[in-house]
Amino acid sequence: MPCKEEDNVQETFPLRLYPWQKARGPSDLSQNRLSVTLAGLKLASPTMLASGILGYSAETFESIAEGGAGAIVTKSIGLKPRSGYVNPTVVQVSCGLVNAMGLPNPGMDEFAHEIRRAKTVLRVPLIASIYGYSEEEYAQLAKKAVMAGADAVELNVSCPHVKQTGSEIGQSSELLAATVKKVKTIVDKPVIVKLSPNVTSIADLAEVAAKAGADALTAINTVKAMVINAETGMPMLSNRVGGLSGPAVKPIALRCVYDIFEQVKIPVIGCGGITSWRDAVEFLLAGASAVQIGTAIAMKGPNVFSSITRGVSVYLRKNGFKDVNEIVGLSHHRQ
Ligand SMILES: Cc1cc2nc3c(=O)[nH]c(=O)nc-3n(C[C@H](O)[C@H](O)[C@H](O)COP(=O)(O)O)c2cc1C
Repeated sequence: MPCKEEDNVQETFPLRLYPWQKARGPSDLSQNRLSVTLAGLKLASPTMLASGILGYSAETFESIAEGGAGAIVTKSIGLKPRSGYVNPTVVQVSCGLVNAMGLPNPGMDEFAHEIRRAKTVLRVPLIASIYGYSEEEYAQLAKKAVMAGADAVELNVSCPHVKQTGSEIGQSSELLAATVKKVKTIVDKPVIVKLSPNVTSIADLAEVAAKAGADALTAINTVKAMVINAETGMPMLSNRVGGLSGPAVKPIALRCVYDIFEQVKIPVIGCGGITSWRDAVEFLLAGASAVQIGTAIAMKGPNVFSSITRGVSVYLRKNGFKDVNEIVGLSHHRQ
């Protein structure tokens, strides 16, 4: 079944009349209604590049930021270089991708040069995504990233396909709390925790991270998945199991953000299957203060940031909202 496309902001307005519209009418065009402050980070737009989708280079990050992204999240970096799994590492499925890259990365000492270089050209916050095999490793990585100039760190405690890191940490309340607490004692920049949907209650783990001192949460990483080839009779990914991303996971991610917003007070960054301004608005209404975009870049190209930010802005104006913060969590309000 093809994925539904609802991207054209001109054709889809006016939206049906929402209860709040009656009282407001269209708002003033002149203001920057898209800026948000998230865990102390100032973003000109509530859209961010999700971790791992584009390489490591400062130039790539710069072009994504110029296209409208309000912040950049790097690929997840570990202490030592890692080559990742052999191909095939990404398979296209209906409405999404299943990947098991195996966290290929050059190691933090090498990557720190790229963080320094990126900071000389980027005018948006740079968030270093890190993964480790112990709380000490996460803390060491966070320190190195911040010393190189990262404006914040995102703890990848949710990768579904590498043993002894990622979701093996994020699925355990004890390991998660210890990791967040340790990182918070080492760095004075915002610590964002990226959560796994592959758990019984993502909201409970969000609460654990918040109580341990996390400044914000990203929900979600990929959903554990696999693909089997009927012709060969074999799993298609070399690692057999990987993570599903793209439009196929959007309703799961949306429910995760909604549940977390009900239970936890710190900001949530929505991620999973966002390809249009309408998707972004749905995440904001569910309780996300900003959104990350990954697979849509592979589907639609980097211009997806400008079309989403433009569409969100038009939505806000047409529905009479002063700025984007006014719609965060609005779907929770009883009408
Ligand atoms: C090819 C690929 C590589 C990824 N690498 C990482 C990574 O290194 N670290 C991480 O935290 N998430 C990684 N992710 C997960 C994305 O950041 C994101 O959480 C997920 O894909 C859902 O968002 P999307 O549907 O917009 O892609 C990766 C996803 C894909 C498709």
